[in-house]
Amino acid sequence: MSLITYKDARPWAKAIKAVAVTRKMPPWYADPRYGHFANERNLTDAQIATLASWADNGAPEGDAQGKPVPIAFVDGWNLKPDLIVEMPTEFQVPATGAVEYQYMKVRANFPEDVWVSEAEMRPGNAQVVHHGEVWVLPPGAKWMADAVPGVAYPQTRMKKQPEDQIDILGKFNPGVGAQTFVFGDSAKFVPKGSDLVFEIHYTAVGKPTTDRTKVGMVFAKGPHRTRYVTSYGPQARNLVIAPGDNNGEVVSEMTLTADAKLVNVQPHMHVRGKDYELRLIFPSGETRTVFKGKFDFNWQISYNYADPILMTKGTRLVGISHFDNSPNNLFNPDHAKEVHWGFQNWEEMSNCFMGLVFDSNLDPKKLALDSGPSLLPAGKPGPTLAALERGNK
Ligand code: HEM
Repeated sequence: MSLITYKDARPWAKAIKAVAVTRKMPPWYADPRYGHFANERNLTDAQIATLASWADNGAPEGDAQGKPVPIAFVDGWNLKPDLIVEMPTEFQVPATGAVEYQYMKVRANFPEDVWVSEAEMRPGNAQVVHHGEVWVLPPGAKWMADAVPGVAYPQTRMKKQPEDQIDILGKFNPGVGAQTFVFGDSAKFVPKGSDLVFEIHYTAVGKPTTDRTKVGMVFAKGPHRTRYVTSYGPQARNLVIAPGDNNGEVVSEMTLTADAKLVNVQPHMHVRGKDYELRLIFPSGETRTVFKGKFDFNWQISYNYADPILMTKGTRLVGISHFDNSPNNLFNPDHAKEVHWGFQNWEEMSNCFMGLVFDSNLDPKKLALDSGPSLLPAGKPGPTLAALERGNK
């Protein structure tokens, strides 16, 4: 539905009040007590009260004089691309049914190393592209090594290889627009000879259709002492969630081997995920929670810090997540199962994609190393906060 004009919105008055009062809309889960974000979009108490009283008083149109100018939506790039890379073939989206995530390798063959200051992924057919990412596949990466360029492979046939630690160039979620990699003098580095992989989640819309998505990038000028990498953040590849547990706790940790700035976070779990906290433990012993919020698999929001957070070498980044593996979780595919780490929706993940800015002379694969709870063997449910306390001693 559209809420752009009064005529569009009027029939939805009661629903608008309900979703505003319960804070279901606009979707935004960061607890305001932890961190300030440049893309914050929650309503204030006063705005919620205005919407509620409007709905309660017959949802009148208001004063025509004070009517805001309608927003002009630009059907084009939000940046001025120096290079556009498009999927070379159309993906055939079926009329109905769930479509597995698709991966398509696209030959980009960058003839030289490039630095990218901004990127934007634009769906060819916005009706069917639910969300997506464009990955940088540097020469020598294992993932998609045998893939034929221009052929779309379902996720189950081309599993990502975590040891590749590949970087995200662009991503699309409705409303994301272009992303900047410029914090100070930073930019994103794409090594010579890299290809791109388009990862897309398609949604069927009742009739067969096609899509050819593209990514546009702006090249950065000048030397870059720092680079921007999208990291997986702390990962709990050893997680175990007990059958039926409605609050399974999972703690993961990585430690920085050099100074870095945290510019963005996007917690990631699957359908049993409930909430996520990112806690920094600085070498001085100071502990600071920089993100805390509810998690909803359907709203994997990316939170951009209003001010980047400086993390010195030796800072431990601790992720604390909770999962509902009980029958009360309507999205739970099987509450009788003990759940382990995996990329499928019926398995679980606990990590936090994050934008990190650091010295461009450093190898990003060595910037952060698994530590504490993330190093424990899988076995008992957890690892829980108790494992973290033990690691502190
Ligand atoms: C103040 C701002 C907003 C208002 C008043 C609003 C209102 C609503 C209402 C009334 C519904 C229907 C709920 C129902 O089915 O009962 C809805 C659903 C939805 N809204 Fe919003 N919305 C707002 C912001 C947003 C934003 C910023 C986004 C996207 C980023 C968004 C995306 C959606 C989607 C995808 C649905 C359907 C799926 C769902 O219910 O989760 N809305 N919204």
